[in-house]
Amino acid sequence: KKVLLLNGPNLNMLGKREPEIYGHETLDDIVAQLQQQAETFNIELTHVQSNAEHQLIDAIHQAHQKIDFIIINPAAFTHTSVALRDALLAVSIPFIEVHLSNVHQRESFRHHSYFSDVAQAVICGLGHQGYFYALDAAHRTIK
Ligand code: DQA
Repeated sequence: KKVLLLNGPNLNMLGKREPEIYGHETLDDIVAQLQQQAETFNIELTHVQSNAEHQLIDAIHQAHQKIDFIIINPAAFTHTSVALRDALLAVSIPFIEVHLSNVHQRESFRHHSYFSDVAQAVICGLGHQGYFYALDAAHRTIK
């Protein structure tokens, strides 16, 4: 089974970026741990991080009929991108939306998501642990 992990803009800065909000782990650390978890589940995990909306959209299109499940942290695109939402609906691959921070405790512009109503689930506020819970749930869904 195949899972695609997508991380949106500025998540390449994890570890350096507002660590009191996003934690001290780098994206490489998190992805390395997820790769280990995926191996124990016999899941092939592919990761794409991009600061460019069209690259995330292209990655979703390429997943069509190839990927069983998507885990996505759309980052700031969560609150802006109808195009990314439409891409996920176009491929109709089930997905979980992850946020490191609890967006509902933060500025009101972070309270709305273009993804949550079409996601299988939303995990937010658990830091990088949220990705591990998402992969566990993906595994249970697709196995
Ligand atoms: C985020 C929350 C977003 O509001 C923000 O723009 C991010 C990261 C999170 O993981 O907490 O870049 O998606």
